[in-house]
Amino acid sequence: MPTRPYVIDEMISAKAIAARIEDLCREIQTEFAGTDKLVVVGLLRGSFVFIADLVRELDLPIEVDFLEASSYGDGMESTREVRILKDLRGAIEGRDVLVVEDIVDTGHTLNHVTHLLESRLPARLKSIALLDKPSRREVDFKANWTGFEIPDEFVVGYGIDFAQRNRNLPYIGKVRFAEK
Ligand code: PRP
Repeated sequence: MPTRPYVIDEMISAKAIAARIEDLCREIQTEFAGTDKLVVVGLLRGSFVFIADLVRELDLPIEVDFLEASSYGDGMESTREVRILKDLRGAIEGRDVLVVEDIVDTGHTLNHVTHLLESRLPARLKSIALLDKPSRREVDFKANWTGFEIPDEFVVGYGIDFAQRNRNLPYIGKVRFAEK
């Protein structure tokens, strides 16, 4: 639970997110046109809202699976270890895979997960992130599709938490701590 009082200012509206998802889905459909073996993989927990909206807009035959990764480090080092807390239920060898992430920050999580899944020999592996904070990058990683590039702000909502709160906001908000 957050310990300091704060307010949330809307940064990206629910309407803007929905419109961007429509555009992204058109591009994804073009990329995966004709496939009948696409697995859409959500990275828990932050992607649960995004993947729910994304797959309902995607006019393709898909399966859905989830993977949970946690990254940790002391914040001072540029090397962060990523642990798999929950692996996929299904095998992806020979399958087309779309990995869905809420935000790419340092890049360690999606970089690690992408390498891990590549080692399982999928036919094609692509990634999509709703948000990208390129100014925070520590490893050279870019998702194949990005919803919105944002500055280095503390964001919450649409699946993203502040100390596990605010994931259920329907929009992306910016956290502002109240003056003392
Ligand atoms: C957040 C977010 C991404 C990751 C991005 O996950 O959901 O998965 O951090 O950061 P990175 O690019 O610096 O690796 P978090 O570990 O907070 O877990 P959560 O998804 O359960 O909120």
